[in-house]
Amino acid sequence: MKNILISPSLLSADFTNLKSDVEMINRSEADWLHMDVMDGVFVPNISFGFPVISAVSKICKKPLDVHLMIVQPERYIEQTAKAGAYIMSVQYEACTHLHRTIQQIHAAGMKAGVVLNPSTPVHLLEDIICDVDLVLLMSVNPGFGGQTFIENTINKVKRLRKLMDECGSKALIEVDGGVQGETAPRLVQAGADVLVSGSYVFKSEDPENTIKQLKSLSTSQESEERPSRT
Ligand code: DX5
Ligand code: ZN
Repeated sequence: MKNILISPSLLSADFTNLKSDVEMINRSEADWLHMDVMDGVFVPNISFGFPVISAVSKICKKPLDVHLMIVQPERYIEQTAKAGAYIMSVQYEACTHLHRTIQQIHAAGMKAGVVLNPSTPVHLLEDIICDVDLVLLMSVNPGFGGQTFIENTINKVKRLRKLMDECGSKALIEVDGGVQGETAPRLVQAGADVLVSGSYVFKSEDPENTIKQLKSLSTSQESEERPSRT
């Protein structure tokens, strides 16, 4: 059985009621909580920063999956660790010395992820893929929740999976942007391990149940695999 990890994105939560949304995440089958930090430079939007991550980490029982959409993220490694991040993911396009940044993230005690924009090809990861714990493929242009899924991501996941198999990488493949009921099963089928989902979860009538449905892709993959094994 393949265990698909679900990482709901806090960007679509109700910011006037963050505590109750984090409590919902605690009760739910979510594996991680995705937190998007934006600087208004790397992306055209500004979201939230370390005081919010620290506050959420005090009440959230799930590991924090922190996605930095900022220039020179290496300036904030210590602060991200202190704020309580489990994973720190940095944008490939924002790092001049990615290898050093990944080493520093590990030295600070966090898992290290690298994020690719939709236009950045996966083959650029060839020489870093064995050093990272996670590769996050953006399936929308970063900066906003609620955008339309970019279809090319499906092929990109397949190409990344092939590259990782060839290199013997054990990194997880995470996908972020436009993940909903129709795109999620196709991403899992293509080889994704972790699904980030913002508006589909938080704007649904029953977010806890929506998370449960996304999580059930783990078991449905199992039942698809079973007939071929017998
Ligand atoms: C976008 C962020 C995403 C965002 C996804 O730049 O990185 O994490 O919250 O939102 P949805 O799932 O609504 O596309
Ligand atoms: Zn994100």
